Formats: sequence, structure tokens, C-alpha cells
Amino acid sequence: MTTIPVDAATLPAFPPRRETPPLDPPKLYSFFRQREPIARVRLWNGNAAWIVTRWEDVRTVLASPHASAVTSNPGFPTFSSARAAQLSVRKTFINMDPPEHSKYRRVLTKEFTIKRLEALRPAIQQVADQLLDAMIASGSPADLREGFAMPMPATIISTMLGVPYEHHDQLRAWTEQRNELNGDPEAVRSAANQMLALISDILRQKEAEPGDADLLSRMARDFILPGAITHDEGVQMASLLYAAGHDTSANQIALGMLSLLQDRAQFEAVRDDPAMLKPAIEEMLRFSTIVHFNSVRVATADIAVGDVTIKAGEGIFALLSAANRDPAVFEDPDAFDIFRPRHDHLAFSYGIHQCLGQPLARIELEIAFETILRRLPNLRLAVPADTLKFDEDTMVFHVKQLPVAW
Ligand code: HEM
Repeated sequence: MTTIPVDAATLPAFPPRRETPPLDPPKLYSFFRQREPIARVRLWNGNAAWIVTRWEDVRTVLASPHASAVTSNPGFPTFSSARAAQLSVRKTFINMDPPEHSKYRRVLTKEFTIKRLEALRPAIQQVADQLLDAMIASGSPADLREGFAMPMPATIISTMLGVPYEHHDQLRAWTEQRNELNGDPEAVRSAANQMLALISDILRQKEAEPGDADLLSRMARDFILPGAITHDEGVQMASLLYAAGHDTSANQIALGMLSLLQDRAQFEAVRDDPAMLKPAIEEMLRFSTIVHFNSVRVATADIAVGDVTIKAGEGIFALLSAANRDPAVFEDPDAFDIFRPRHDHLAFSYGIHQCLGQPLARIELEIAFETILRRLPNLRLAVPADTLKFDEDTMVFHVKQLPVAW
């Protein structure tokens, strides 16, 4: 068994920063994976926590009934003071354990079945076509992130929830502020609270006219009005869905396209062979792992992982981005390779908190890439790749702009 150093000051600081190329997670993760796959690190507040960097160990942690997502449990670790502020406002099932987690997630299960989401394909296709029409009409070059990737999932989640799109710019600004890892904690808290207040007003309108028109109307009719969940619990869920539903798929579209545009042969393989679309999307998810700092837990009882025992009360970062570059599972893991045989990446996490929206995300990605590659077969980067700017100080890693030409 590994012994745990007592003095946190001697531990390496976490999180480390990315180097070049920025699409790769910090190199320190590979170093730890080889030398000390379950390692102690020092956090912003001087506390110690564990980082887990191997695919197998990340799965062990995330499947453990003793790995809790409840932020009020003693020892729950945070990345920064801004993140701690955000978590103090977020009170929904992503930060609950069973049985509460199951109770609230069940409220949404019917809304996220593959069958129900597949029925949205024509509507999603229409959104993709309209956005691309507008981008093409504006002329080459254009910023694919702002012109297509960001508005596409936002339009879809707004329609799905029944949140009028006129609120989107404001909701997006609050989501971005809330997701900042190094922002001013008070600003983060205020953005999160303002978002909840606006969503609360919208949900009240649904409660006044419950029905079948959209997810929030059904939530009002089937769960809030009969008393199965409270209004405030509904607001928290809706806020999570709105935030998780727009900037994740959006940034995955932008980063996935960047990976493809940097390798012409792979771009052409996906463009010319429809059978390559799904494997290419799985590789984009693995390679980018945009939700690079989630899957944070605290042990509520001892957890044996590899040759380490994580003790009750110790914090754990199950690093999805490190797990997805584990050479024991993915050969030549730092290569973007749509032909690789394995797709069992952890970009959507693992265990009971595995992404609820993943079937929706996959449909959005399929439609986005199929439509863009069919309509703009000669798409290329409009600037040298090494001039692109990235943002890693946020929960959803992203490229800030993606200028393309056609
Ligand atoms: C490429 C797109 C996406 C990625 C990479 C992604 C990633 C993730 C990850 C890593 C988690 C788990 C966090 C943890 O283990 O603590 C998660 C949870 C979640 N995601 Fe996604 N997500 C995406 C899109 C979406 C979409 C479109 C929605 C839908 C509205 C959504 C809704 C959720 C919800 C509700 C949870 C919480 C699940 C739970 O705790 O039971 N996500 N997502």
C-alpha cells in the first residue's frame, strides 16, 4: 500500500497548465500515469487530493458506491475558489448520490431516450441547414464556432426545454461566467444565481400552463404540480440542462472540426464515406475530452484503486482527459486517428453520473459534421493552426474562434 505524505505543501500543484499542442491534456498527466498513476496533489486552498490518470482506475473510482459527488461531504475537493462558488449555488442531481440522484435523474429519463431524441432529427437537421445557409451567405472566410457551432445546440436545447431563444445571449453569458475556473468567485456566484432566477420565471409560466409542448411544460405537469419535485428543484435541473446542453456539443463541434481540418486525409475519409462518421465522432470525443475537469468525487469509505487505498474523506479527481490518453487502452494515444478500433472512451464519464445528454450530443454531432462536410467539401482553416487561441480556464475546454474558408 502507498503511504500518504502528510505535508500537502510538498505535493505538486494542481491543476497544471496545458503545453503545446494545446489539444493535449497537460503532460504531467502522462508523467504521473507512468510513475504514480494514483497520486496526491496540492489544491488552491492548500488541501491535498488524489488524481487518477489511468483509464482502468478512473472507471474503478467512478463505479465505486463510495465515491460521492455530494459537495457538502467533508473533504470534497475543488479546483479553485471560483469553482467552489459555483458549486455552492448548484444543487442538483449531478452533485447527489443514490437514492436522491436516481430520484431526480428519473424525472428526465423519458426525455432522453434514444427513441425520443431520434424523433428530433428532422428538426435538428433544419437548424443545421439554416445556420449553414446564413454562414455561407455571409461569405468565406467565417468563424465556424460563432456562426454555426455555438448557435446550433443552443437553438436545439432552447426548443427542447421551451426556453424562448431571445434569452439565449444572456443565458450563454451567465453560463460562461459560471464555468470560469479562475474568475471572481462573487461574479461566478452572481451569474449562477441570475441564471436560476430567469429560469425560475420561465418555469413559473410553464406551471401556469402545463402541457405537452416542451420538456419544462411536461416537468411542470408531471412532477412539479403533483408535488413529486419542488419548483426550486425543477429550476436547478433546468439550469443544468440548459448549461450542459449548449456549450458542450457546441465546443465539441468546433474542436472536432479543428482536428479534422488538421489532417486532410482523415477529413476526406469522413467526407467521402458515411460509414466513417460515427467512428470519427467517437475519436473526436476521446481526443478532445472537452469536459476536462469534471468527475470530482470524495471517498465516503475506503476505496481500493490499483495499489492505493483512498481513505474516507479524501478528495479525488478522476481525470477523464488523462484516461482517454492511456496507452494501455488507446495505441499511440496522442494521435488523432478516426480508424482506431476502440471507442470505449470516457468523454461522457462513467458510472451513475455518465452524461444524460449523450444520445442528444451524438445526434447533434452527426448532423453537424454530415451537413458541413456535404455542403462545404473543400472546407479548410482560414488561418495557420498555430495562431488559434484556446481557453483552458473553464469547465468546457474550447477554441475561442475557428476561422474557416471554403
Ligand atoms: C459533447 C457533448 C457532451 C459532453 C462531452 C458531456 C460530458 C459530460 C460529463 C463528463 C458528465 C459527467 C460528469 C461527472 O462524472 O461528474 C456529464 C454529465 C451530464 N451531462 Fe453531459 N456532456 C455533453 C453533452 C450534454 C448534453 C447535450 C446534455 C443535455 C442537455 C448533457 C447533460 C448532462 C447532464 C444532465 C449530466 C449529469 C448526469 C448525472 O449526474 O447523472 N450533456 N456530461
